[in-house]
Amino acid sequence: MKITVKSGRMETIRSGAAMVPVFEGEKLGATAMRIDRALGGTIARLIERGDLVPKAGTTFVLYPEGKIAPLRLILAGFGKRSELKAERVRLAAGKAASAARSAGSRDLLIPIEGIGIDPEQLGQALAEGVVLGLYRFLTYKTREEGNGKKDLVSCTIVASKVSARLQKGARTGQIIAEAASMARDMVNTPSADMTPAVIAGVAKGLARTHRLRVRVLERADMQKLGMGALLGVASGSVKPPKFIVVEYRGGGKRPWIALVGKTITFDSGGISIKPPENMDKMKDDMSGGAAVLGAIRNAASLRLPLNIVALLPSTENMPSGSAYKPGDVLRTLSGQTIEILNTDAEGRLILSDALTYACRYEPAAIVDIATLTGACRIALGQEASGMLGNDDRLKQLIREAGERTGERVWELPLWEGYCDLIKSDIADMKNTGGRDGGVITAACLLSKFVQDRPWVHLDIAGTAWTDKDRPYTPKGATGIGCRLLTQFLRDFKYP
Ligand code: BES
Ligand code: MN
Ligand code: ZN
Repeated sequence: MKITVKSGRMETIRSGAAMVPVFEGEKLGATAMRIDRALGGTIARLIERGDLVPKAGTTFVLYPEGKIAPLRLILAGFGKRSELKAERVRLAAGKAASAARSAGSRDLLIPIEGIGIDPEQLGQALAEGVVLGLYRFLTYKTREEGNGKKDLVSCTIVASKVSARLQKGARTGQIIAEAASMARDMVNTPSADMTPAVIAGVAKGLARTHRLRVRVLERADMQKLGMGALLGVASGSVKPPKFIVVEYRGGGKRPWIALVGKTITFDSGGISIKPPENMDKMKDDMSGGAAVLGAIRNAASLRLPLNIVALLPSTENMPSGSAYKPGDVLRTLSGQTIEILNTDAEGRLILSDALTYACRYEPAAIVDIATLTGACRIALGQEASGMLGNDDRLKQLIREAGERTGERVWELPLWEGYCDLIKSDIADMKNTGGRDGGVITAACLLSKFVQDRPWVHLDIAGTAWTDKDRPYTPKGATGIGCRLLTQFLRDFKYP
């Protein structure tokens, strides 16, 4: 996708399609007014009759039949002007871009005159909306959709005058959205083709194109270190586990920030095997890893003045003759022991070793992100990811990043009483606390491995996958967390 910024007036530029922003409950804006005059009042009549209700994320295609230069007009609802923010722009641009593509256009003009938000934010949100809205996963399609032949390939943001900030925003937005698309691709790819080894290869590939260093610990390295929890989960799979370490050094002598992503390439449940319904979705259990990989890639692309380490503990969770079993006790890298009650509560196990490893960096902040509990989806649905942690400042930063990116989070309490539920009779703790407060008891276990460092846990079990198309999030992997963590890193200030 080529995104450019150009000065001029949309109606004089030849193109396959042009977007016309329309606000709800008010007179037509500057661009829409001029276009409407050229068309003889069609747009105003459409609104008056109620054929077009310009709610955020709605579109309406019009053919101007030669009255202006663009071949098609995509009227794009922006909602009420008083509620306009970056998320609305993302929704509108995403929907407009996919509507333009469906109509057959190869390019799209986006006039911004009268969209009154900060130019840098506007450029970023437009680019994100377009790139994410056009996202498709075609790797395994041999016939349909022409494998990208008819794709929309260029997008021009049209301003009365081009500013450096608008241009910078558009560039930033494109970088960030392309990383999120990479995360979506990784998650959409079947587990047979997105193994721990493949993910390690993806990380190594990034180290060649970006300023990143990658180290991959093999099974023998994990054994030497004593990562008994990760190795326990991995013991049922014939695919070798990988512990992937990605470092970005852009912050000189400043302390590290650690990002930890659950990277289970397939979660069958293990010996405590899951029921067959929706088990196919368990290829998304590496969404946390994909998110942190996307975020550290963005940190490098945007040259953020930080030192960041991304940790991806990666394995399948499979039943077999060599698999770990309920009743087993695993000795973690920290030395603490965990009694296994259910092999399907594997995410917290691999994270416990990864969090301990993260502490070796003496990080100023740790954020882990994981498709950790079905309970989180029950609690918050698909609208918010669960957030728990031990540091108010860090939680506030993540909360704000969530609002700005549209990847919103909602906090749940991490009170002592909940942590009593994971006490074990024979080990230091057990890996499930029963059905009550399942999101929280999982986080309680994680909290035992962060050595009192500032830490936030994000549970994305409900948000990593969507079963219905949304304006800039088609069905399938959402890539959640990549943009959220990127925004968090951009806003991060040392205490
Ligand atoms: N990966 C799953 C959580 C999950 C469930 C993600 C549904 C997305 C959709 C996780 O490993 C898991 O199986 N959790 C168990 C924990 C339980 C055994 C304590 C769960 O949520 O049922
Ligand atoms: Mn599981
Ligand atoms: Zn899992």
